Amino acid sequence: HSNARVLAPKVVATRVLPQHAQARLKEQDFELVQWPEDSLMPRDKLLSDIKGAEGLLCVLGDKIDKELLEAAGPNLKVVTTMSVGYDHIDLATAKKNNIKVGYTPDVLTDATADLTVLLTLAAARKMKQGIRAAENGEWREWRPNWLCGYQFAGKTLGMVGMGRIGQAVANRLRAFGVNRVLYWGRSEKPELKGQAEFASMDQLLKESDYVVACCALTPETKELFDYEAFKKMKDTAIFANSARGAVVKQEDLVRALQENLIAGAGLDVTTPEPLPTDHPLFKLDNCVILPHIGSATIEAREVMGDICIDNITSGLKNEKLRCELNY
Ligand code: DGY
Repeated sequence: HSNARVLAPKVVATRVLPQHAQARLKEQDFELVQWPEDSLMPRDKLLSDIKGAEGLLCVLGDKIDKELLEAAGPNLKVVTTMSVGYDHIDLATAKKNNIKVGYTPDVLTDATADLTVLLTLAAARKMKQGIRAAENGEWREWRPNWLCGYQFAGKTLGMVGMGRIGQAVANRLRAFGVNRVLYWGRSEKPELKGQAEFASMDQLLKESDYVVACCALTPETKELFDYEAFKKMKDTAIFANSARGAVVKQEDLVRALQENLIAGAGLDVTTPEPLPTDHPLFKLDNCVILPHIGSATIEAREVMGDICIDNITSGLKNEKLRCELNY
């Protein structure tokens, strides 16, 4: 028995990683089963490949539910997602089966905060209409009343979710002149005393010029932004969401924008994703939509890939993960 061959553990990866991370992934001494296309791994393929796997590297389009975790069988030790969000993972089942869960916080904070600011600015300054006008011949002589939006100096920002990304957004917008920051979230953060005020959702909605969602999707935040919420906002308010589409009741947002209850919206996330191209949100001039690219910088994505590899290798050895979710 002493020289019996030890089988390499099987690891399933549902995507190809960024260049350098991918090269490193290939060098690992586990048996790698990887979906080679730049697209969602088909569910039935994932369900069959996962059988007997000890590690799973996934992304947020993959549904890591009870069915999948159970299809893996008892060997599965670690699941890592290449994202900071983990609402696509059934944590109750993972816990029950003693599976470690890894994710990629911190390294995408700057990228996501930058993009959130871009969306906020774009919505405030009517960038969608501006680009379209420039391209399609609507651009005429300089006109005093044309495409006027809003600026930031002296304004109030309301952050829904004041974690790493929320704080990074607030810091950036302070540099643009925002002089008051309200925030709502699970709990007050004593370390923010003097910089930002913990507020009720009601107060935040009523008093903010910019309302920005950077929260996790949880039962408490699901469809938090409904018609009632938009009605409470100023009619000059700009709403931005780089969190998850489901924090918004989307048909209510459509209505709010159509009725000019708010001035504009910038979205990096929608329901569903991709948003069908004939969706009413695309028809609205006052809604800027990007295709979930908050963390899409070369820098962030390479480190996200790297962390996933480290999470897998530690998980296979039953060691603490580089970025392990405490749940
Ligand atoms: C995340 O990390 O959760 C984003 O949605 C994708 O980077």
